[in-house]
Amino acid sequence: MPLIAPSLLSANFLHLNRDCEMIDKSEADWFHLDVMDGRFVPNISFGPMIIGFIRKTTRKYCDVHLMIEEPEKYAEAFKEAGADGLTVHLEACKHLHRNLQQIKSLGMKAGVAINPHSPVCLLTDIINQIDTVCMMSVNPGFGGQQFIPETINKIKQLKALILSSGSPALIEIDGGVTLENAKSILDAGADVLVAGNTIFKSPDPSATISALKNTGR
Ligand code: DX5
Ligand code: ZN
Repeated sequence: MPLIAPSLLSANFLHLNRDCEMIDKSEADWFHLDVMDGRFVPNISFGPMIIGFIRKTTRKYCDVHLMIEEPEKYAEAFKEAGADGLTVHLEACKHLHRNLQQIKSLGMKAGVAINPHSPVCLLTDIINQIDTVCMMSVNPGFGGQQFIPETINKIKQLKALILSSGSPALIEIDGGVTLENAKSILDAGADVLVAGNTIFKSPDPSATISALKNTGR
């Protein structure tokens, strides 16, 4: 079964506690927390303070997706806020290997996110250092966008790279995941499905999480 990671970006921030409790009680596996700085992406979301509050509502894995420049400046703050995994963008890191070492030395799982334009081969020499590859299936910055179909082929390429290298990396797909396309994403080799809009704009978010979890069953 896939791991399901609801993205809080689409939650109601006036009722954050309610939405966190819903995820905590649901079949979801991870909390996906999208941090945006208005520089790496054209939007600003939230930072360590909000994540610290979310942390108090759950014992589930908190998967923090940094869409920020200079992530090394903030890794410690996110660790202190309670992140279990920290994902940095390939495109934002001049010294990606060093970034991953920093994250692991702080005791967190190390993730690398790649934008839709970045080819999978850019991960070849770093794949064995990665715990999670977050493959963007939309251009990062906003929830509720359409899934980019070319991603399916990239998932297959990434799966092949992981198998041939013996890397333990999980494949996480982020952006535009729906009940309709989830099966083809998983069939291509994905392990983790991030979903924001699909969950929070549905009439019964908890049932939608369950439907995603049981995709194809
Ligand atoms: C996009 C974020 C995603 C986003 C997913 O920049 O990284 O996590 O919130 O939202 P949906 O599922 O609505 O595309
Ligand atoms: Zn994300």
